[in-house]
Amino acid sequence: MPRSVREGRRPDAYACGYCHLPNGLGRPENASLASLPKEYFIEQLKDFKDGSRHSSEPRMGSINNMILAAKAVTPDEVEAAADYFSQLKLTKWVRVVETDTVPKTRIERGMLIPEAEGTEPIGSRIIEVPEDYEQTELRNPQSGFIAYVPKGSLKKGEALVRTGGDGTTIACTICHGPNLHGLDNIPGIAGRSPSQMTRQLIDFRDGARNGPGAVLMKLPVAKLTDEDIVAITAYLASQEP
Ligand code: HEC
Ligand code: HEC
Repeated sequence: MPRSVREGRRPDAYACGYCHLPNGLGRPENASLASLPKEYFIEQLKDFKDGSRHSSEPRMGSINNMILAAKAVTPDEVEAAADYFSQLKLTKWVRVVETDTVPKTRIERGMLIPEAEGTEPIGSRIIEVPEDYEQTELRNPQSGFIAYVPKGSLKKGEALVRTGGDGTTIACTICHGPNLHGLDNIPGIAGRSPSQMTRQLIDFRDGARNGPGAVLMKLPVAKLTDEDIVAITAYLASQEP
């Protein structure tokens, strides 16, 4: 594991592994990096650095340290981190459950955490929580996440992802590959956090992601409603990484 991932460098080049985890599987409030194409990875660091990628959610604090890190790292550190993460295997980290009711949750450390008691209707939301919050905070590499998704989302999402859903969007498989594992420099989107994927679709749609590759994502997201995005990201998360 390169030093940039393990320890970082003071003051601003935060250790990548602290947020993205040494196994590259990440957490809902940041991003899974395992098996991302190397060129894509390096381009994202450039995009964060030059301001063409930020977040459309002003309350999303953790991205500020990502941007600081992107500005502080040297090209050699980026290269070493990209080499490391691109060679890690993305493994199953999110368990998708279709349901009408979810535990009541609160926000802590950028994540939703189940309250000890109480349930509520899911409505048209995805509620992604740790399987075991304590283990997540101990950074246990075996302890992943549960994504509760509205009933019917997997079927609706499958149609949108695989066929474009009668012109609502463009079949994602055309560019992201038949198994959604990515093609050449295009990242895989199967089996990744639905919270993370949701933010990206909104960020492409609302113009917070504008790097050179983002151009290709503008048309697929142009007509998506928030409900479509819930269905799409639920389905993506349910697929084998
Ligand atoms: C403080 C936590 C934090 C640290 C430390 C951090 N990142 Fe990030 N990283 C984030 C967040 C948050 C995002 C963006 C998630 C989003 O857009 O929704 C992100 C996104 C990324 C992405 C884009 C992933 C994708 O799928 O497009 C890459 C690549 C990345 N980080 C690499 C790094 C590298 C390399 C380092 C170490 C030099 C690093 N990060 C350190 C929080 C962090
Ligand atoms: C015309 C090609 C094309 C199509 C069709 C397409 N994508 Fe993409 N997608 C891309 C490219 C290129 C990128 C990388 C963008 C960048 O470099 O910023 C991307 C990135 C993404 C990302 C961000 C991944 C990350 O690691 O942050 C998500 C999520 C995504 N696409 C989802 C979808 C979904 C869902 C569909 C179908 C509804 C879709 N894409 C259809 C080309 C495409």
